[in-house]
Amino acid sequence: MGRNFFVGGNWKMNGSLAQVKSLVAQLNNTVIPSGTEVVISPPAIYIDRVRQELKPEIGVAAQNSYTKASGAFTGEISPEQLKDLGIDWVILGHSERREYFNESDEFVGEKTAHALAAGVSVIACIGEKLEERETDKTTEVVTRQLKGIADKINDWTNVVVAYEPVWAIGTGKVATPDQAQEVHATLRKWLADNVSESVAESTRIIYGGSVNGSNAAELAKKEDIDGFLVGGACLKPEFSNIIAARL
Ligand code: G3P
Repeated sequence: MGRNFFVGGNWKMNGSLAQVKSLVAQLNNTVIPSGTEVVISPPAIYIDRVRQELKPEIGVAAQNSYTKASGAFTGEISPEQLKDLGIDWVILGHSERREYFNESDEFVGEKTAHALAAGVSVIACIGEKLEERETDKTTEVVTRQLKGIADKINDWTNVVVAYEPVWAIGTGKVATPDQAQEVHATLRKWLADNVSESVAESTRIIYGGSVNGSNAAELAKKEDIDGFLVGGACLKPEFSNIIAARL
């Protein structure tokens, strides 16, 4: 299929200086298989240190960025500032930001467009809540979220779509390979029908939600699962098994 495997590690608001040192040392000793791209996302306060100490073949992502280059926006970080530190990626639209910080589909789309224009690649997160799945609204929700992004961008080259069902995040309740594959195929078809066949074919769609060293290999066998966005397990030694999941 030709899409490189992508493994992201989202530390969320976890870590300390001591942990940064040990996690970076562990990652620097991890062999990255050819055809696999690894990007880790520490909290903003540690991002510069991680970028300086991590081997260059592993990318670094911010967990958020704003829609402006600079100005009076207390607490925000711009993609231009990320570029300034050699940070090439940002996670946008994570369900925790949508839920706790009221980020709308439109705002996530705007942030995605601004990050891409500044030269920062985007891991764009979408995913349904449990009650939405249980009322058969999964397709409606994830395609609406994807449209929020598609409405604001033209070039998908530097976008990775992360499907993260909210009910699977941090719960230990991973989607089955068939459940994840079904949504990934739906998303790819939506891209084919609403953006283009070539964008659908080339865009990586990764899965997130309770991925660990034991379930990653089965998920990775599915044709539309192009990698993972990992939370809890990226802070543990088993992250190296997830990095090697497609071997
Ligand atoms: O962004 C990754 C994420 O939300 C999944 O978290 O802890 O279920 O792997 P976790």
